[in-house]
Amino acid sequence: MGEKYKAIKVTDRVYWVGAVDWGVRDFHGYMTQRGSTYNAYLILADKVTLIDTVKKPFMNEMLERIASLTEPKNIEYIISNHSEPDHSGCLPETIDVLKPEKVFASTIGTQTLLQEFHSGHEIIPVKDGESLSLGNLNVTFFETKMLHWPDSMVTYMPDDKLLFSQDAFGMHLATSERFADEIDWSIVEYEGEKYFANIIMPLSSVVLRTLGKISDLGIEIDIIAPDHGPIWRKDVEKIINLYTKWATQKPTNKAVIVYDTMWCSTEKMAKVIAEGLIDGGVSTKIMSLKSNHRSDVITEILSAGAILVGSPTINSNMFPSVADLLYYLKGLRPQNKIGGVFGSYGWSGEAVAHIKEILTAMKVDLIGDGLRFKYMPNDNDLTQCFNYGKLIAEELKKRLD
Ligand code: FEO
Repeated sequence: MGEKYKAIKVTDRVYWVGAVDWGVRDFHGYMTQRGSTYNAYLILADKVTLIDTVKKPFMNEMLERIASLTEPKNIEYIISNHSEPDHSGCLPETIDVLKPEKVFASTIGTQTLLQEFHSGHEIIPVKDGESLSLGNLNVTFFETKMLHWPDSMVTYMPDDKLLFSQDAFGMHLATSERFADEIDWSIVEYEGEKYFANIIMPLSSVVLRTLGKISDLGIEIDIIAPDHGPIWRKDVEKIINLYTKWATQKPTNKAVIVYDTMWCSTEKMAKVIAEGLIDGGVSTKIMSLKSNHRSDVITEILSAGAILVGSPTINSNMFPSVADLLYYLKGLRPQNKIGGVFGSYGWSGEAVAHIKEILTAMKVDLIGDGLRFKYMPNDNDLTQCFNYGKLIAEELKKRLD
């Protein structure tokens, strides 16, 4: 093993020993255009403890970073906060190589790891609120069920007021810097919001409950060390406030118009509806699905008060790209949105009705009946588009404080 991959100091006894994945661009349907990191941490306590591991192909990078600090076989405990394979993929091999004295996970985590690896490795279940002595210091486990898997838990180290938060407060962002305060804030905020929108949004109520629990327990946090992206040390309050804001999903004076188009008729409608919204004083973003990935559209939708979806009809259905977006969005369960639907068609024109059905199932409050025009919209049709935008702007204003 060489000495090229180094551990990065987080506190006097906690080090980052993870891996940077500069090239990953797809995370089960989420476009990670800035790559990602798989963060693992080493606590140099009496019982040397590894918090989480990394995605399987990055195991040697992790082991080499550990070796830059201590002989990896000195690790006596491994704590698995989350059993998704980007954090546990190399756990069985790591156990085989390091032969730690004990490996811990949440009660559900022990079952999940068993079902993933079908191996005979013994994993010890820990309970919500249970503390574990590492000799000269303790850590405490808190279950965060469904944030974002049933097995998820976080590990708190009171001595350093450090929370190992697994996926929570993370983001897909590959950088040479390990701390959020070393990176351009606009990038950190955008990628944090994108991660929240695409992964955490359906669990917004769990986020608010968990933040409430942390506050009730009076847990002081100076550092948040997540499993992806940068570590929070100077901006802990800022990221917690952002999580509260994102999870609340309070509508803002913003509309997102997302559409696809066949011969530019639906696009013409989108642009004039936008003019109506803008004339009505609403900040408006037009996103063609020909040029925007679903995960970027979702990021914009998180903070929007209004979503307008447009599609031509093709073979009695909406465009496949629009169906893709809506099914993805439905699973993410956005809240507190008003909506609009539009599209052009040639003869049967089912797309608008199909979109309305899906948005209604998502509890989006649809304004008006939507607009659909045959072939190319004429000037009168486009006037209706403008007025539709104005109507949605007026309805949105009524719903803002
Ligand atoms: Fe980063 Fe849920 O794994």
